[in-house]
Amino acid sequence: MRIIRSVSVMKAYSNALLREGVRLGFVPTMGALHQGHRTLIRTARSACQAVVVSVFVNPTQFGPHEDFSRYPRQLKQDAMMCRKEGADVLFAPSPEAMYPPGFQTTVSVQGVSQRWEGAHRPTHFGGVATVVTKLLNIVRPHMAFFGQKDYQQVAVVRQLIADLNVGTAIVPCPTVREPDGLAISSRNVYLTIAQRRAAPILYQALRAGETAILKGSKDAGRIRRTMLMKLAEEPLVQVEYMSVCDPDSLTPLTRIKGRVVLLGAIRLGQVRLIDNLLVKAKTKGRGAKSR
Ligand code: PAJ
Repeated sequence: MRIIRSVSVMKAYSNALLREGVRLGFVPTMGALHQGHRTLIRTARSACQAVVVSVFVNPTQFGPHEDFSRYPRQLKQDAMMCRKEGADVLFAPSPEAMYPPGFQTTVSVQGVSQRWEGAHRPTHFGGVATVVTKLLNIVRPHMAFFGQKDYQQVAVVRQLIADLNVGTAIVPCPTVREPDGLAISSRNVYLTIAQRRAAPILYQALRAGETAILKGSKDAGRIRRTMLMKLAEEPLVQVEYMSVCDPDSLTPLTRIKGRVVLLGAIRLGQVRLIDNLLVKAKTKGRGAKSR
C-alpha cells in the first residue's frame, strides 16, 4: 500500500489507474479508523479493482468551539488497518496541501444541508461539501463509499454530486454498531464511563420510534414523543433533536406513509452523538419492514 501526502502525486496516481481502465473505489475519512470505516473499506474492496482511502481531519467542517484540535489522530494505526483491508493507497494530505494560502472557494448545498445537523452546526456541511468536492476531483473515483451513520451527510453529498455533475456513484453502507446498539464513532472515545453506559439510549429511542411505526402508528408527532420519552429515562441526556422525516428531502413529516427516516442527536456532557434509522411503514395489506 502506498501512502501519498501530495495532491499532485495522488492525482497522477489516479490518472494512471483510470487510463488503465481500473474500477476505482474511494473511502473518505477523518481517520481514527474503527469497525465502521473497516466495513466501508471492505465494501469498496469487494466492488472495485483499486481502493483509495483518505485520512484528512478537515478543519473547515468543525465549528469554532468544536473538537478540531483534540480530534483523535493516529495515522500509523490507520495505515495498518488500511493495509490489512487491502487498500491500495492511503491519501493523507496536510491542511496546507488542501487549503493553500489564497484558497477562496466553498461549496454550499442549500435545502438538505439546512435542517438538523445543519441547524445545530451551521458551518459544518459547507466544510464537508467543499472537502468532498475537492477529494472527488483529486481522486476521481467511480464509486465513493459513505456510512448511513451520517444520514444527512449522504443526502448532502448525493445532492452535490447530482448538482455539480460529478462522475462518481455514491454507495451508502449500513451503520456498524457496538453490541449494545451504540453506533460506532471516532468520538465515542470522549465518553466517560457513565456517559458510555448511557449512550445506547439514543439507539433505543430510535428503536422505540420504529416499533411504534411497525405497529401501525401514522402520527409523526406521537412517534416523536415516544422517542423523547425513551430519552427522558436517561438523566445525563440533553436532546438536540429527534425527528420523523422524509428519507430523501429530510423534511419533517406529520403523517407517515411508506419509508421514513428517524433522525436523532443528543449530548452527553460535551459529547455529541447522532444516529438514525430508516423504517418502512406498513402499507395496506402488506407486511412492514425496516432496515
Ligand atoms: P468520518 O467521521 O471519519 O467518517 C468517514 C466515513 O465513515 C463516513 O462516510 C461515515 O458515515 C462512515 N462511518 C462512521 N462511523 C460509521 C459507522 N458506525 N458505521 C458505518 N459507517 C460509519 O464523515 C466524515 O469522516 C467526514 O465528514 C468526511 C466525509 C471524511 C469529510 O471530511
